This record gives sequence, C-alpha cells and structure tokens, in this order.
Amino acid sequence: MKPGITCVVDNAVKSSSHLWGEHGLAFWVETESGPALLDTGQSGTVLLHNLDVLHLDLTRLKALALSHGHYDHTGGLPALAERLTPGLPLYANSDLLQERFSQSTGQRRAIGLSVDAAWLSAHFTLHLDDAPQQVLPGVWTTGAITDRPYPGGYVPRQEIRAGDGYAPDPYRDDLSLVVESDSGLVVLCGCCHAGLLNTLEHVQRVFRQPVVVVAGGTHLISADAATLQLVAQKLTEWGGLQRLYLNHCSGQEAYVTLRQALGSDIVRSCPAGAVLEWAAAA
Ligand SMILES: [Fe+2]
Ligand SMILES: [Fe+2]
Repeated sequence: MKPGITCVVDNAVKSSSHLWGEHGLAFWVETESGPALLDTGQSGTVLLHNLDVLHLDLTRLKALALSHGHYDHTGGLPALAERLTPGLPLYANSDLLQERFSQSTGQRRAIGLSVDAAWLSAHFTLHLDDAPQQVLPGVWTTGAITDRPYPGGYVPRQEIRAGDGYAPDPYRDDLSLVVESDSGLVVLCGCCHAGLLNTLEHVQRVFRQPVVVVAGGTHLISADAATLQLVAQKLTEWGGLQRLYLNHCSGQEAYVTLRQALGSDIVRSCPAGAVLEWAAAA
C-alpha cells in the first residue's frame, strides 16, 4: 500500500460514510515498512468496524504506539489483541500503566488502562520508555515532553494517586508520533495533554526538521481565548505549517480561531475516514 496517514477513530466521521464515531482516537500510519497504529479508540468495536470499512488489514500491522493511558485511546486494546498474533511491538511512555482517575461531584472513576502489565506483556512486546523510540523506519515517538513553558492540556479533575490521596495528573505519559516525509515532519497527537506548543517545540528541538503537518487531538477544548491567540501567534511565527488537522479534544472554538488566524487552507477538520494530505517536497 502507498504510504499515507488515515484517521480511523474520532468523535466525528466523514459525512456519507459507513464509519462509526466515538469519543476516542486512532490513526493508521502506512509506511514503506508496513503500517503502524497510533492509539485504539475507546471501545474496540469502533476501531475494528472502521478498519474493515476502510479496508485496512490488521494482519499487516507492524507496530502499535499509545499516546497516553486514557481509556479513549487505549480501550480498544483487548479487541485489537484478539485479532493479532501475540508479540506485536507496543511503544509508549514508561508511565503508561499509572492508574488515572477523573473526579467530579465527589465521585472518582478510573480512566486509565483497563488492562494490567501482565496482560499487556502477554499480548505485546513492550517498549515503555521516556526517550524517543523508533516505531518503524521514519516513525518515532516524541518521548516524554518534559519542558512545558507554554500552557498544557490539563484537566484539573483528572488525577493520579499521590501518597494516601490524589494529585492532579501531570500527564507524564503524554507523547505524540513523529512521521518523516519528503517535505518535513508530520506530528500526530493523541490528546496532547503536554500542550500543543510544548509538543511542537520539543519536536523541533529533538528532530531538527520542519514540521509541515500537525494532526489529532490538541486538547485546546478547554483553552481560554488568550491561549488560543498564543497558539495562533506561535504557529504563525514558526511558519512552515502546511496543514493543521484538528479533531477529538481540540474543540470548536480552537477550530474557528485557528482557521481564522492561519487560513482555511491550513486548518482542516479530521474525522474518521480523513486521509491526510500535504505537498511533497519541491
Ligand atoms: Fe483523548
Ligand atoms: Fe487524554
């Protein structure tokens, strides 16, 4: 198959398609060395249905990467594992297995992985690391994004265990995927809890190539107007961005603000079924 990137799971689906939507995310990354999957969506049912509709063959899958531990990115793991031969390489941050919770009106519910370390090890070959990891030739994880001078995609009610109690989740596990192309880097975000600007600055520092496409969940859904203006300003200053495909937790206000600032040619929606497009090198 030709190299390319397809959104397989998102909250929205391409109009007039038979795809299903859910609050979740997954991207199929086709490379010369075979395909990799970023994230699994929430249910697994939607992932498997959409892969079938899109004629994307799971038996060809070479690697899986997980952007972070939240259920809407990892909930499809059991359904996925049922379709795979055990041992597929799985790349994620070393903090992936940390328990995670969402707390509202006094109720606390688990929102991390639904499987434990033993289950993961039985089904996948685990590569959990804070450093950037090669997933396939030309496809890398960002590694941990530790420098965060810009606003992050933080949700105060999301927590981890701390001592005898709970503390706000610092989202240490959050990473994005970096795909090399002829014209520059494509950055695929899961939820981008580390912050879109922090993630992009990290990518530019570590990979030292221009970023031409950003796609995925940018967690700008709860960003205030000043943050959205800062994102628009920095993306304009940094330049070189051909496409910004927003979906999942990006939010309508971010879509409108960034589309006004950067232009409708650059800022696009990215429902399930969207195939990312950008210009080849001149
Ligand atoms: Fe998410
Ligand atoms: Fe998340």
